[in-house]
Amino acid sequence: MKKLVIYGSKKLKGELTVQGSKNASLPILIATILTKGENILKRCPNLNDTINTCKILTILGCKTKRQENSLIVDTTNLYGNEISKHLMSTMRSSIIFLGALLARCKEAIVYLPGGCDIGTRPINFHISALKQMGIQVKKTGEKLHCKVKGEKIKGANIFLSFPSVGTTENIILAAVTAEGTTNIFNAAIEPEIEDLCNYLKKCGAKIKVTKNNKNSISIEGVEKLNPCTYKIMPDRIVAATIFSAVAATKGEVLLKSIKPIHLNHTLKILNEMGCLIKTYDDDNIFLKIKKPLKAVKEIKTMPHPGFPTDLQPIIMALSCFAKGTTIFIETIFENRFRHVPELEKFGAIIKVKNRICVTKGIANLHSANVCATDLRGGAALIVAAMGAHGISKICNLPYIDRGYEKIEEQFFKLGANIFRK
Ligand code: EPZ
Repeated sequence: MKKLVIYGSKKLKGELTVQGSKNASLPILIATILTKGENILKRCPNLNDTINTCKILTILGCKTKRQENSLIVDTTNLYGNEISKHLMSTMRSSIIFLGALLARCKEAIVYLPGGCDIGTRPINFHISALKQMGIQVKKTGEKLHCKVKGEKIKGANIFLSFPSVGTTENIILAAVTAEGTTNIFNAAIEPEIEDLCNYLKKCGAKIKVTKNNKNSISIEGVEKLNPCTYKIMPDRIVAATIFSAVAATKGEVLLKSIKPIHLNHTLKILNEMGCLIKTYDDDNIFLKIKKPLKAVKEIKTMPHPGFPTDLQPIIMALSCFAKGTTIFIETIFENRFRHVPELEKFGAIIKVKNRICVTKGIANLHSANVCATDLRGGAALIVAAMGAHGISKICNLPYIDRGYEKIEEQFFKLGANIFRK
């Protein structure tokens, strides 16, 4: 198995264009099933998860073709409605196929999804919502056999007890061509969900997102959707990973094609830690270390617009270099501190109790041989290795490749000594 070899403490400097978002591209790729024809998805990242999504689309009868940064998906001849246990287990997003297949085929057979081991990650919200939309669900072991009762999926008023990202996406896909209107109360409103809605609206869907203290999404069912050409949003988590690695090396970077509004909370934290941040022309962000890194007191993960759980491991790695103590409170996933023992191998000082983790920053971390335990935990190890003195090695790269496109090439462009071997 190949490893990432990183020669740490090299100041990163330069400019980069940010890849398309993984967590937006997956539901959008799946949503193409709702159209009959050729969709062109621009800025669609080439990742393990998008490759596996294309494998599923192909098995269902669709044609997929990569042309540089774009993925072309022709859904004209979709004939299948069953996804194998193996393919379902390759990622969490596979469960989103359920809403789309039910809308197109009225029946679907799937299995429990896979995904990073960051918590129990049940699918009870998905199932309960689909049942409220008139879908019959039969669960036998890990197999789910779902059928639309009657002619069409029925619009419904659905209240989510927690604003689950995947559940909101599944409901949207089931609702866009359903009979009547669906209202999702306490909906997730992550930028990736808005991107999915924008793609669907371009195809002819009628969706309204209302953001207030009770976020809601209203979807009025339409007869049919038409395929379209759509440019996927830039990846805010990848952008924040690059910023953190650059900050750990006391460097500077200009990131292009990234929306500052998607990174509000994160830019505020990086600024508080001592980074100078300037935004240009709506979609360029410059970051430079202004003064020695200092700790922010408390970081609590919350659904959007709060601080994203996906960045908790990455900012934690950066906090290990910052003077002072940072308290991390993980409210979304109960098992998302698996990177901590690996960060400790770099000499980081961290204490964990239940969902709280406290880091005490030190000026210098040393090199280490570590293993990624999940996608963002793996990215956190890259941040630590970039800032640490000496040569570090990171194994379990398939985790990192789920979300980062040619990561070593990106950092190489910023002057990093990083190799995959
Ligand atoms: C999405 O996962 C993202 N994945 C995750 O990104 C991200 O961490 C997460 O949202 C939260 O922002 C994709 O978009 C592909 P949830 P998802 O449903 O949809 C509980 C990354 O690193 N829950 O919002 O699976 C669940 O256990 C990944 O890119 C139920 O209890 O997240 C969790 O505690 C990792 N029952 C909470 O809700 C359900 O039926 C939030 O999960 C569904 C969820």
